[in-house]
Amino acid sequence: MISVEGLSCRYEGKGFELRIERLEVKEGEFVLVTGPSGSGKSTLAYCLSGLIPQCIKNARMLGRVTVCGMDTTKTPVCELSKRVGFVLQNPEAQIFGMTVEEDLAFGLENLGVPYDEMRRRVDETLNLMGMRGLRDRDTSSLSGGMKQKLAIASVLIMRPDVLILDEPLANLDPKETNGILSVLYSLKRIGKTVVVVERRLGELSPLVDRIVALKDGRLVADESPRPFFEDEELVKGLNVVPPKVVEVAYELRRRGLKLEPFPLSERELVRSVVGR
Ligand SMILES: Nc1ncnc2c1ncn2[C@@H]1O[C@H](COP(=O)(O)OP(=O)(O)OP(=O)(O)O)[C@@H](O)[C@H]1O
Ligand SMILES: [Mg+2]
Repeated sequence: MISVEGLSCRYEGKGFELRIERLEVKEGEFVLVTGPSGSGKSTLAYCLSGLIPQCIKNARMLGRVTVCGMDTTKTPVCELSKRVGFVLQNPEAQIFGMTVEEDLAFGLENLGVPYDEMRRRVDETLNLMGMRGLRDRDTSSLSGGMKQKLAIASVLIMRPDVLILDEPLANLDPKETNGILSVLYSLKRIGKTVVVVERRLGELSPLVDRIVALKDGRLVADESPRPFFEDEELVKGLNVVPPKVVEVAYELRRRGLKLEPFPLSERELVRSVVGR
């Protein structure tokens, strides 16, 4: 679904460079991209969505990125966006409509989707997101969590094959976090290809198939959650928030306990300590 080869991306006048030799995301995979602030996570997301090189003009990109078989340097962003949905780190930047319904219909109107079909898709998306009661709400009156939900909904309504979300849980309270997580669980269940950029790993780790970690613009890990979390030095060096159970496992290991397999859930933790 996504293929990155020999990617280099810089911003004019800045020393930062994102450099990734190779990265692949397969159909139906749920991939987490993590790393410290400034490590290049959003830059990678821009490259995967075609915003770089097409819209962010002070960025210089070399190499090849293809999404759903389309070269991001050659396929216009409006074409790419039919297949690749991108939810920005700041959802406010993505809300255009006065009401929730208007906002959801916006992208479809631009594509010239007929009115009946548009209504059907708005209903379907409001149901999927658990937002049925919000159809006529003024978008400016929505909470941060609801805005995040609306930004995701307005991308999902386009029925993209790949969804890229940049820090969807940042700045959300626990209730709002659960609302977004349940949407992510639904996406996983229906087998959507999802790339989530996030530093809060605890909530997401049960969902993800693979973790890609960036540090100073370089790829420092690309593996499944268990070997990733098992490597305490790697995780600590990323300045991210690991799951609670992983923190406990590190502490037990420091005290001499051998934990095999390395636990990722409470149940696994109990089993690896008492042996059953
Ligand atoms: N549009 C831009 N123009 C110029 N420099 C940028 C731009 N976007 C990001 N940068 C710079 O590129 C580097 C990587 O930033 P990026 O936003 O990709 O990191 P990040 O991992 O997403 O960080 P955060 O966790 O804070 O969101 C930083 O030094 C940042 O200042
Ligand atoms: Mg970012």
